[in-house]
Amino acid sequence: MKGIILAGGAGTRLYPLTIVTSKQLLPVYDKPMIYYPLSTLMLAEIREVLIISTPEDTPRIKQLLGDGSQFGMELSYAVQEKPEGLAQAFTIGRDFIGDDACAMVLGDNIFYGNGLNHKLLDATSDAENGKATIFGYYVEDPERFGIMEFEKESGDAHGVRVLSVEEKPKNPKSNYAIVGLYFYPKGVSDMADNVKPSARGELEITTLNDMYLQEGRLNAQLLGRGYTWMDAGTFDSLQRATDFVSMIEQYQGMSISAPEEIAYHFGWISDDQLRESAARYGKSPYGERLMAVLEGKVVL
Ligand code: DAU
Repeated sequence: MKGIILAGGAGTRLYPLTIVTSKQLLPVYDKPMIYYPLSTLMLAEIREVLIISTPEDTPRIKQLLGDGSQFGMELSYAVQEKPEGLAQAFTIGRDFIGDDACAMVLGDNIFYGNGLNHKLLDATSDAENGKATIFGYYVEDPERFGIMEFEKESGDAHGVRVLSVEEKPKNPKSNYAIVGLYFYPKGVSDMADNVKPSARGELEITTLNDMYLQEGRLNAQLLGRGYTWMDAGTFDSLQRATDFVSMIEQYQGMSISAPEEIAYHFGWISDDQLRESAARYGKSPYGERLMAVLEGKVVL
């Protein structure tokens, strides 16, 4: 199973913050935004990840994350010349994906909740068995998102039956947004080749999802109460995300989405590697929390 973080886009909704830096490198409380989607893929136990960003931002992200060995991972990088749509990630990533199943997370999407690991592992095993998975999250402004309509009675632990998917519909058929986290079986790059640009000129992920739906190969899981999903792409949502993370981390004293911590709990890095990482973060609370993990005070 491979993973992609799509971390490009012009970021104009956050100007002037993003004139000289990448949106995905902006702080969400105590760590750069991209730590959150990276952690999400790690919770799906994906260790080979391709990060796709703009020509300007890719080197900056690489400077931060490197080859991923400090997380026990293999990170590689690719450039998206222009933001032509989310589905393009799978054609850019064709060689990286090869003959594997592949998940994708958007670089500004933040997920939090107990049990996420198991939910994501379910999606991984479905992807390895030929089925795609999308995730639905209740929102009050469904016109702003990809929306899934589903059979309300069909829900069980493994998901719900999807009836339709639509990108930013004027008359939404439900209040469940399709979040920016997708799992696809092998062959997704070939499938993405057939996505035609939408009316707004983008290769839409929703078109790709609809193709899987038409083939009867689209699962959906709901992220219900107990899960938090945020996209941090506007000033308000970025502020909310920062407030949320600071509240949980200060109240509970545990980190949200610290890649080194996840790697350590999964046994991907040694005590020494964790100690080295903690030292790299100096006297910051982030580094101190990593030390608490090393001392065995925090159990995942
Ligand atoms: O956040 C979830 C939503 O993300 C989904 O519900 C929608 O179905 C999906 O289309 C997407 O909607 P957005 O309007 O949020 O997409 P946006 O164009 O803002 O792009 C999402 C992120 O991906 C953003 O951080 C920029 C980045 N991006 C976007 C495009 C179009 C790229 O890196 N490359 C691109 O080509």
